Amino acid sequence: MVGIMATGMVRRSVATRRTLEGPLVTSATASLVMVASAGMVASADTAAVEVIADARRFQQENNLMNYDHFFDQAIARLHDEHRHRVFANLERMAALFPRAVWHSLDGPREIVVWCSNDYLGMGQHPKVIYAMINAAIHMGTGAGGTRNIAGTNRPLVELERELADLHAKQAALVFTSGYVSNTAGLSTIAKLMPNCLILSDAYNHNSMIEGIRQSGSDKRIWRHNDVTHLEELLAAADPHRPKLIAFESLYSMDGDIAPVQRICDLANRYNAMTYCDEVHAVGMYGPRGAGVAARDGNMHRIDVIEGTLAKAFGCLGGYIAGSANLIDAVRSYAPSFIFTTALPPAVCAAATAAIRHLKASDRERERHQQRAERVKLALSAAGLPILASSSHIVPLMVGDAEKCRQASDMLLRDHGIYIQPINYPTVQKGTERLRVTPTPYHGDGLVDALVEALVDVWRQLELPLLDRTTARRDSKVWPTRSSEEMTRALAVS
Ligand SMILES: Cc1ncc(COP(=O)(O)O)c(C=O)c1O
Repeated sequence: MVGIMATGMVRRSVATRRTLEGPLVTSATASLVMVASAGMVASADTAAVEVIADARRFQQENNLMNYDHFFDQAIARLHDEHRHRVFANLERMAALFPRAVWHSLDGPREIVVWCSNDYLGMGQHPKVIYAMINAAIHMGTGAGGTRNIAGTNRPLVELERELADLHAKQAALVFTSGYVSNTAGLSTIAKLMPNCLILSDAYNHNSMIEGIRQSGSDKRIWRHNDVTHLEELLAAADPHRPKLIAFESLYSMDGDIAPVQRICDLANRYNAMTYCDEVHAVGMYGPRGAGVAARDGNMHRIDVIEGTLAKAFGCLGGYIAGSANLIDAVRSYAPSFIFTTALPPAVCAAATAAIRHLKASDRERERHQQRAERVKLALSAAGLPILASSSHIVPLMVGDAEKCRQASDMLLRDHGIYIQPINYPTVQKGTERLRVTPTPYHGDGLVDALVEALVDVWRQLELPLLDRTTARRDSKVWPTRSSEEMTRALAVS
């Protein structure tokens, strides 16, 4: 039946096709060819296969443009570079985090997730789950519109108050994601300052780069975390020009932390504004979870703090916090704020519950740091090449896209451990890695199992395992701690 209908569709589309200056493939034909190329024919019946063959023949005979070919080629390029991404089909288990069910081709299987950005496990915290359910029961699911039309719900207003308080700023503005908060925030702020010059750290996240690009402002890139270079660029700029320094407090791929204090000193000296992305730090650093700037006593010196509700706060959404005027201006001018539906009330209520909990509780933060330290020490002790980092992120270097992919596949298939490979363009070619993110819920048993699995995979893939003599030679890649320090730290964790 499907085949007959589809055949009819193709015939009709043939009969009614339009010819402009050149050949134009009909949408029905194009979509059938796409279906064939996507490999979906495996489950189709014979009639459908014939229809697709028919469509291809028709396309060739009539010399029609094969639109699908463009996408086929684009995907082939990714395969050639071992960059084609495959997502594991996972089902998180709230009560058993970080365990999840992997729906593999052979059926469901329990696995342990070691790469989640739900850094503190707040996505399964009873207070957060309850807040979400309660709000959904009372207020329904969607927001009902853009903020300008019908979407400013009470939980959203409360969430913004909570965020302003978290960062000790006059106001905060919530967006549908951290990505959007960066593109909207940076582009709007810079556009509203005539002749603005943006000074951007070389390792800034794609959302910041996009925001800067969309602003149309002049930009200078300073070498990653290099304040001397930043100062050179500031000194060379016209002193009367508005300047915006954009950086992250914690870089998520290397796990390194920005010299926030020195950046703020330069901002003062050269009268520049500061915009700091704290996406990988909010909830986790500082006495109330306000981030790295708060931890080091610099939060009041940052003009705009940007964060996410989707990582340590376990929900979805992003925000900026700053002066009342700045927030009002972004609210009034940013198209990606104005023309999109607001976050659902239930998501806002859950995020507020997570923020409130983490403002009052240090337990998750302390345990998180302790677990991260334990993982770093255990991996180093086994000779696994981690990048030295001063944060909770543990980058395990592979340095080869294909082997990185294979390592990830083997961990999942043979050991029930999920760590997504990080390849170009997320990181530079040759620095491919597994990005391990311990949470407070990764106990000693899971850490031991991780080390055992990684050593096995490293041996099978003939990746180098290090001894400590080699390790000390390159402090960028290998840990510099002595074995005594490691043993001591392992004993206390
Ligand atoms: C530094 C940085 N900023 C912003 C974002 C975007 O945040 P979100 O996931 O909430 O869109 C990410 C995402 O991982 C990020 O790493």
